Amino acid sequence: MNQPVSLKAPFLWHGGDYNPEQWPRATWDEDFRLMQQAGVSVVTIGVFSWVSLQPSEHEFTFEWMDDLLDGLHKHGIHAVLATPSAAHPAWMSAAYPEVLRSDENGIRKGHGHRTNYCPNSPDYRRLSGNMARKLAERYGEHPAVILWHISNEYAERCLCDTCAAQFRLWLQNKYGTLDELNYRWWTKFWSHTYTDWSQIMPPRANGEVLTHGLNVDYFRFITESQLACYTNERDIIRAITPDIPITTNLMGAYKPLDYRRFAREMDVIAWDCYPSPKHTPGEIAFMHDTHRGLKDGQPFLLMEQTPSSQNWQPVNALKKPGILRLWSYQAVAHGADSVMYFQWRRGRGGCEKLHGAIIEHAGRTDTRVFREVSQLGAELNQLGDSIIGARLDARVGILFDWDNWHAVEDAIGPVHNKRYYETVCKHYLAFHRQNIPVDVIFPDSDLSRYAIVIAPMMYMVKAGLAENVEKFVNAGGTFVTTYHSGRVDETDLAFENGYPGPLSKVLGIWVEETDALFDDQTNTIHMSDGSGDYTCGHLADLLHAESAEVLATYGEDFYAGMPVVTRNTYGNGHAYYLASNPEAAFLTRFYTELAQKHGLNPLLNAPENVEVTARYKDGRTILFILNHNAATVTVDLGGKSGHNLLLDEAISGQLTLEPYGVAILEETSDS
Ligand code: GLA
Ligand code: ZN
Repeated sequence: MNQPVSLKAPFLWHGGDYNPEQWPRATWDEDFRLMQQAGVSVVTIGVFSWVSLQPSEHEFTFEWMDDLLDGLHKHGIHAVLATPSAAHPAWMSAAYPEVLRSDENGIRKGHGHRTNYCPNSPDYRRLSGNMARKLAERYGEHPAVILWHISNEYAERCLCDTCAAQFRLWLQNKYGTLDELNYRWWTKFWSHTYTDWSQIMPPRANGEVLTHGLNVDYFRFITESQLACYTNERDIIRAITPDIPITTNLMGAYKPLDYRRFAREMDVIAWDCYPSPKHTPGEIAFMHDTHRGLKDGQPFLLMEQTPSSQNWQPVNALKKPGILRLWSYQAVAHGADSVMYFQWRRGRGGCEKLHGAIIEHAGRTDTRVFREVSQLGAELNQLGDSIIGARLDARVGILFDWDNWHAVEDAIGPVHNKRYYETVCKHYLAFHRQNIPVDVIFPDSDLSRYAIVIAPMMYMVKAGLAENVEKFVNAGGTFVTTYHSGRVDETDLAFENGYPGPLSKVLGIWVEETDALFDDQTNTIHMSDGSGDYTCGHLADLLHAESAEVLATYGEDFYAGMPVVTRNTYGNGHAYYLASNPEAAFLTRFYTELAQKHGLNPLLNAPENVEVTARYKDGRTILFILNHNAATVTVDLGGKSGHNLLLDEAISGQLTLEPYGVAILEETSDS
């Protein structure tokens, strides 16, 4: 249960991407020395090394990689060994032009960039698989290697003819007959009926993009195609090195690929955290919790973050002093077992030459960034194995679904921007700001471990979900869903017999119409017991309570007096419907009351913007207290006491945290 990712490296990893093929050997020696100075214990190598390892189809040059791995090992540094398949060499595009990806119009792109391969290209699969095999055969036994990192950040989609042909096979397998496909995609609309499989094309920008069933299926198909590239390499490697875990790096809330599908095939989740400087700590926490959720709570790896600035945002602010440390511990607080960066050394050319790095072009160590990284490295090394493998424990689950994300945003009406991701995050934040732990869960998750399950804007209700919700509520759980839920099934066909479709029974309501509001328009949530009024907006469902009780009604417009918040008693539990998008204050109150009903308390009653999480391991509780304020705060430990692992001192009563300060408290058992 509390296993480290690698038994060879049972501690919090500290390090990052290292691309030494860009530098002469003298620089490598300097790098090894400085890595030791910075407390770097793990580096990711080989991510974009394809041409350096295979300068032409039948020529391989592994000697430098041999020396690199030996050099790292000699200096006590472990290696996450990547396969180089995210950027393929020019010789490959020249020899096998169908390896190249096509753009949104289906037009073959020129060579260049990265992730510019067609995921269904047989030559890409063959050549990337071959490279994976050679790496595994050569380095599978190397003592420095602790993890395989397949490719890098699978991304985007291809709409080429190869993909089109594969897509048709995929559809035949899914639907069996063209009649069934035509029915599920509702193609009699606008005379879109297909009379031969060959007529079906990917949703190219200059072609059919308005058949929503096709769009969501193409998204699923592309996820499976990209994933097949991953499993192709993974299976080859696993057969040779069954004991080394295998991963790839994910990218946060990345809409084009369903990461829940990826997670099933990954031994450990790894992700690259690049928030914009405007992201709030709660929004970053949501991203970490989403990645922890992908493998049902298993700790994950923070594979990349910038030590200072990114270079691809519109404005690339520096991380202010202390923020790197704070955000690194925030990742650990939410389940990360590593703190890693992109990149060790800033390249002299290429489009990332202005991206932050531990060693910048000056090559010096008397810099703020090197100092901050080294101090953090020393702390993390001191923490050793005290945290790794530790789990979090949440009784609130927030449901997120990639298919739903595609379907709800793709649908035309009742507003352009449905804000699905923001909506899920908004509900998450209502718990986060009170330091009540939340798991991000998915339609196939086991609901039984939760007291409260929230499914914001569950527009697409896939087969089985409503039954799971009914079982969960019947057993005493509290379920909450919102406006614009229960509209379509998994092929995007609208439910008949009233919204919210299969969720109607557990919710005891029927939605008749939905109003859409401009951003400067609001309605009112008027609590029926007179306990308050709150604003709401964006969308407003006009619904009828059937078995549900009405907790609040709309205050304005022709639907004033109609229900806006309902609660249905179903078995031993309750199902709530929020018919409009409420102001944050409503959600705080609403969820506080629900949490209290289930006996779920904040981990600590901390001042604003002080984040608290807990990880559990071997009967120990490790509390993370993170001050996101630029000011000193005092935190009342509320009777808890323990050992501050960072300062190696006992602590109880009150804790003072400097601006952006962090405390990691191992609670003593009697507290
Ligand atoms: C991603 C990639 C890296 C690098 C960084 C830059 O995470 O994996 O190779 O491009 O972005 O922020
Ligand atoms: Zn393709």
